[in-house]
Amino acid sequence: MSAVKQPVVAYDLASPLFFSDPEATTFARMRARDPIYFDPGLSAWILTTYEDVSRALKSPDLSVDRNGEIGRSSSHGVAPQLRSVNSIVSQWMIFSDPPRHTRLRSVVAKAFQPQTLRSLLPIIDQTVDDLLDHAEREGAFDVLTDLGVPVSERVTAHLLGLPRESPKQLKSWTENIFGFVGAGNASDDVVYANAAGINAFRTFVAEVIDARRQAPGDDLVTQLLRDAGSDYTEEELVGLVITLIVGAFETTSYSITNGLYALLRHPHQLQLLRAQPELIESAVEETLRFDGPALSVQRRAKCDVTIRDTSIRERDRIYCMLHAANHDPAQFSRPSQLDIARNPKQLGLGLGPHFCLGAWLTRLETQRAILKTVQRFPNLRLAEGSQPQWTANFAIRGLRQLVLSTSLSGWFKRPDN
Ligand code: HEM
Repeated sequence: MSAVKQPVVAYDLASPLFFSDPEATTFARMRARDPIYFDPGLSAWILTTYEDVSRALKSPDLSVDRNGEIGRSSSHGVAPQLRSVNSIVSQWMIFSDPPRHTRLRSVVAKAFQPQTLRSLLPIIDQTVDDLLDHAEREGAFDVLTDLGVPVSERVTAHLLGLPRESPKQLKSWTENIFGFVGAGNASDDVVYANAAGINAFRTFVAEVIDARRQAPGDDLVTQLLRDAGSDYTEEELVGLVITLIVGAFETTSYSITNGLYALLRHPHQLQLLRAQPELIESAVEETLRFDGPALSVQRRAKCDVTIRDTSIRERDRIYCMLHAANHDPAQFSRPSQLDIARNPKQLGLGLGPHFCLGAWLTRLETQRAILKTVQRFPNLRLAEGSQPQWTANFAIRGLRQLVLSTSLSGWFKRPDN
């Protein structure tokens, strides 16, 4: 029987194994052997070193607009839906280059100042305390659904002055958008879900804007409308508010979940944080480095460029693997160890002109949620049989579930180190 020659797959970025531990399964090898690698499946270049990723994020030769193809699909059946969703999302700030990016970011950044956000601290603390009261009564809780999601939902709703009954819908619209922008190749279901959801999302936000025009409040949407005056179109304002909601909802919940998981897997570091709570700011920077919720961001070459010795052609796609850069041993000593005192210069919130606008807020929420949880529950541990399952998405990386016990009762096992 003659052997059939199979093409060698150097790195399998489509496998669930990759998403379960991208660094160990793939990035460590790729960074060492092929720091600039063309992945045929994604039809894109992959950057994995800290230096290349940092440079790419700051380079004016690389664009965020993905040629207007924010979501991609190989299925012709969904082409009209794909076009329609892409034509909307490609106008958003996060997928825009200057001058549109500068114009959009400047008006929202004005409203998004630390002094505005600082007033959220009592709400964050109260929300976390209420949720932890509930967890204590139950004896166990899922960090994602019982802490991370409600904290980010309630804080965002308060910040933007959203109606109380809205968060459930917002979460599914947001999930759909991440599914769309973060899929290497979006499935038909994902494209259909977005085509159906995105207009409902725009209508919802347009109504919120209208309500704030009728009855201004002390929320960020009111402030945005005041700052924008008549210089911005309705579609631009709707896009800005949607970007804030999408930016805020999923990411922070995973930042809390992934962060607590990292600490539980490093019991000495967890103890250190309990003993020295003043390390919390550095600890959250470290959890964002170690396993932050942004796996990668994408760029496109605006012109022919050379990275190291590799020629990249105009319009080529590039994935800047933030997770890989954050584990680069050339930048961080013992990168596979969590070290909450190292206060790393990590790239989990991006860098350059598109650096995360919500960085200050998400740090605050994550710090308060993690610190209060570990201080409140000295016996915090992973629930027996709790199998970590990671999202399979190039934009967002998070644990789908993290069930923890708050007490010493017998059905929980010690976490692995
Ligand atoms: C831990 C949680 C978060 C992570 C890991 C994260 C990550 C990122 C990253 C990597 C970027 C850069 C995108 C690029 O360069 O293409 C970004 C941009 C952005 N983020 Fe965040 N983010 C988080 C939380 C938030 C929150 C809470 C908000 C809003 C309240 C937010 C709003 C935004 C916005 C509006 C942008 C676009 C900025 C621009 O295009 O100029 N993010 N974020």
